[in-house]
Formats: sequence, structure tokens, C-alpha cells
Amino acid sequence: MAVKIGDKLDLGEFPLLLAPMEDVSDPPFRYVCKQNGADLMYTEFISSEGLIRDAAKSLQKLDIFEYERPIGIQIFGGDIDNMRRSAEICTQVNPDLIDINYGCPVKKVVCKGAGSSLLQDIDKMVAMTKAVVEATHLPVTVKTRLGWDDNSKNIYEVAERLQDVGIKALSIHGRTRAQLYKGEADWTLIREVKRNPRIKIPIFGNGDVDSVERAAAWRQEFEVDGIMIGRAAIGYPWIFREIKHYFKTGEKLPGPTIAERVDVCKTHLLKSIEWKGEKTGIFEMRRHYANYFKGIPNFKEYRVKLVALSSLDEILETLEEINYNFSAMAV
Ligand SMILES: Cc1cc2nc3c(=O)[nH]c(=O)nc-3n(C[C@H](O)[C@H](O)[C@H](O)COP(=O)(O)O)c2cc1C
Repeated sequence: MAVKIGDKLDLGEFPLLLAPMEDVSDPPFRYVCKQNGADLMYTEFISSEGLIRDAAKSLQKLDIFEYERPIGIQIFGGDIDNMRRSAEICTQVNPDLIDINYGCPVKKVVCKGAGSSLLQDIDKMVAMTKAVVEATHLPVTVKTRLGWDDNSKNIYEVAERLQDVGIKALSIHGRTRAQLYKGEADWTLIREVKRNPRIKIPIFGNGDVDSVERAAAWRQEFEVDGIMIGRAAIGYPWIFREIKHYFKTGEKLPGPTIAERVDVCKTHLLKSIEWKGEKTGIFEMRRHYANYFKGIPNFKEYRVKLVALSSLDEILETLEEINYNFSAMAV
């Protein structure tokens, strides 16, 4: 059955979502994920205070493109009125939805009463969500965690109360705030939320899906409406097409060839330059090379070289050399 967010947004059967990731899920990265089949993508989180102050960096994060649809803009903040105002600003850019971040565990965010901090004050979280829902005609969704810590896993109640004030989907990362990114994600409570007969909105599972096998097993075991993937897509956007192919045919696609890795890496680099300008585009692409070529033996020399070069021509030449030298290898 097709999964719908609100009345209008149809994501098809069992959608795969690209998780919002700070400094990662920008338009160049989203481009390669979209090409490989991500069904719904999000911007990285955007500070509501930054948006209201007109901070250039926050505004740049509002850049979305037609080919990215459906796309959600994710906002965070600790002040209800600022969240309401930033929802109005986001609405003007016309994304397909607005997502609220109640999951970020980072100290500088939590200290300001934002992100996962709201898991400690559900009344405020509900009031904030209601204010955002009322500030926009767009569907509002939420991404959060199981709870603040092991003794306060309140996602069951959170899901009900947020649905009651009008959110249209909920993505749950199967960790508490206290866990940060440590240990294994536990999707058991996500299944409980999904099984709650009061819950009618789509529930997306998130956390540690890093292979076709796990996606298939957890889809079955935890009964979610779709899966959100973050880290496993970094340098490996093929994860979306591989999972989709498996769901459709029951067969595993072979991994990308070296030529494909080079090709997608190049596209990512060129999009990066197109969007950020040559200098920043080249610089910020450096964090991605190791991921695109993970698992290739004796690659270190090239990895070191790629992150040292600052001329586009030289980087492109090096990528061609990689293609030439490693193409015979099955990775
Ligand atoms: C580098 C990085 C940046 C992230 N930034 C955000 C963010 O901006 N908003 C958000 O909701 N979650 C953010 N997250 C959390 C991810 O969306 C996701 O919940 C988490 O990585 C678990 O999923 P995964 O195991 O598939 O990576 C970030 C995670 C990483 C690794």
C-alpha cells in the first residue's frame, strides 16, 4: 500500500528516506542520492534563530530544487515563537513538507532547549509542534529519538500527542539522547508505536540500516512504513537502489563498479562546485572521497592525493587515473 504524508504527498510503497545530516545532506549530496532512488529527502537541520536573523548560512540551506521533490526542510530551535516564525519563512520556499528536529543530541543544541532536549518536556514539544503546524499549510513531520535516556523512553506517548496536534509522519531513531550514536539502535519501541491502534500516521524507522539484508529483515521484523537511511548513504548513495531492487525482485544487485564510483564522485564534486563555488566546493568535497572508495585495497596514496589537491583539473585527472588503475578489480 502506498504511504502518504497528508492528503497530497504520495511516497509509493515502502519509501526509503535520506536522513537529514548536518554538513552532509546539502544539494550536491542530495543530487546523487536522488539519482539512486531516495524517495524523500531532507535538508540538514536549520536553526530557527539563524533563519530569523537572516543569517546567510541558514538561508543558503533553504536552497531546494524542483528535481529534488519531494523534499522537506528541517528546522530546530528552543523557542516556540521563533519556530513558528521560521516555519513561515520555510513555507515561502515551498518545500513539500516541514520537519521538526527533536532528535539532535549535540550539546550546543540541547543547551538551548532545542533538538532532543524537548524529549524532557513533552508539553513544550507539543505546544511547539502545534505552533508550527498552525503556521503553515504544508504537512509537518517530526524526527526524534526513543526518549531522553534509558529511564525515560517516552516515544509511545510522544507519538500520540504529536499526532493529535497534527503532524503527518514521524521518523524515529532507535536510540535515546543519552546514547548519542553509541551502541546498537533498538527498533523494538518503534514497532510498539507502529502497532498502537491510535497511530494513523506513517512511522519511519531510523538507525543503523547499512545493508540490503538489514533493510529487508528490519522491514519485516519492525513493521515500519519506510526506512530512513543516514550514514550508510555517505559515499554510497547506491544503497537506495540496491534496497529497492531487492524489495522488487528478491535479488541482490552487484555493488557499483569502479567506473560508477568515479562517475558519481565526479558528479558530486561538480555539483558541489556549481552550488558552492570552486574553492569551497573542492574543499568540502574532501570529506567524501574516502567514503566513495571505501574497501578498495591499496587506495591510500590516492586518498591522500585527492584531499590535498585544490585544482579541479588535477582532481578530475586523478579520478580518471583511479578509474584506469582499478577498473579491472572487482570490489
Ligand atoms: C554527520 C551527521 C549529521 C547529522 N545531522 C542531523 C540533522 O541535521 N538532523 C537530524 O535530524 N539528524 C541528524 N543526524 C542524525 C541522522 O539523521 C540519523 O538519525 C542518524 O545518523 C542515525 O541513522 P543512520 O544509522 O542511518 O545514520 C546526523 C547524523 C550524522 C552522522
